[in-house]
Amino acid sequence: MIEKIENLISQAESFNAQTADELEQFRVRMLGKKGEVTELFNQFKNVAAEQKKEFGQKLNQLKNQVQDRVNELKAKLEAHESAPTGMDLSLPPGGFALGTRHPVNKVMNEIIEIFARLGFTVSEGPEVEDDYHNFSALNFAPEHPARDMQDTFFVAGRPDTLLRTHTSSVQVRTMEGQKPPIRTISPGRVFRNEAISARAHCIFHQVEGLYVDKRVSFADLKQTLLYFAKEFFGPGAAIRMRPSYFPFTEPSAEVDITCSICSGKGCNVCKHTGWLEILGCGMVHPNVLEASGIDSQTYTGFAFGMGMERIAMLRYGINDLRHFFENDLRFLKQITD
Ligand code: PHE
Repeated sequence: MIEKIENLISQAESFNAQTADELEQFRVRMLGKKGEVTELFNQFKNVAAEQKKEFGQKLNQLKNQVQDRVNELKAKLEAHESAPTGMDLSLPPGGFALGTRHPVNKVMNEIIEIFARLGFTVSEGPEVEDDYHNFSALNFAPEHPARDMQDTFFVAGRPDTLLRTHTSSVQVRTMEGQKPPIRTISPGRVFRNEAISARAHCIFHQVEGLYVDKRVSFADLKQTLLYFAKEFFGPGAAIRMRPSYFPFTEPSAEVDITCSICSGKGCNVCKHTGWLEILGCGMVHPNVLEASGIDSQTYTGFAFGMGMERIAMLRYGINDLRHFFENDLRFLKQITD
């Protein structure tokens, strides 16, 4: 009898079922009312007293073994049924295809980090602005051409509401809400009604910086920008300043860096000058400070602004600005550093 039980145990161990029917038949043959296991339980009363212990233990082992095997096969068959055919469920998962950050985003984060080391905080403001914060508070004369319909996207039917043309508007909002010392940069999207080409787009990104305190000088501006150029483009980078005009700064300058493509030797990208323009800057015009309630007798400040796409083009050697807006994965996947 013990031998028979052991035989059944090994049968249960090696039993396999291809279909639910086969499995059910096995279950009935073993555990059904007239099943082999049930029969053995019925015979328990006839077993000699000294064998009862061993017999009972073996019999329980058999019953558990059969029950476990049935449950195991049942789960397997059910999983198989719900799976699409042709799939190997025993394979390990394939892993996720991770995306990468957009090049403009990377450049922006790097710039934020560099200026954070100099104590600049990040400020943000609305993309839909009013004329006051985008122009008037920045000392734009009422008839200034930048307000012209050609350059600015106005909201239809609301001549006072527009898409900001630069993030200098955020600087105005910061000055309205804070007292000097102010040291902040404002990264963000800006909009200009321009024809789309390899060098221009109607949407792009800027980072503008503002520093207002007592005795801030043009030398501070120059040193800050030189530090930025060396941190971002490498220790060999040099800058030069050319006089320029912006309504909100006086004096104003445009800043060039040594061409990162030819290291200043002269190439097609820098039109053989060895220099590339990267930003506009200047000392904050007293009218701008006063418009935001800052005493221009006590405080001075500098401001600068640069286009992210242009910086990203230089960093990654990209020759067409439109790539940044097309979201073509073949382009984006190449920029992984
Ligand atoms: N706002 C200017 C632009 O969009 C850039 C700039 C910012 C110039 C701050 C000077 C000072 O072109």
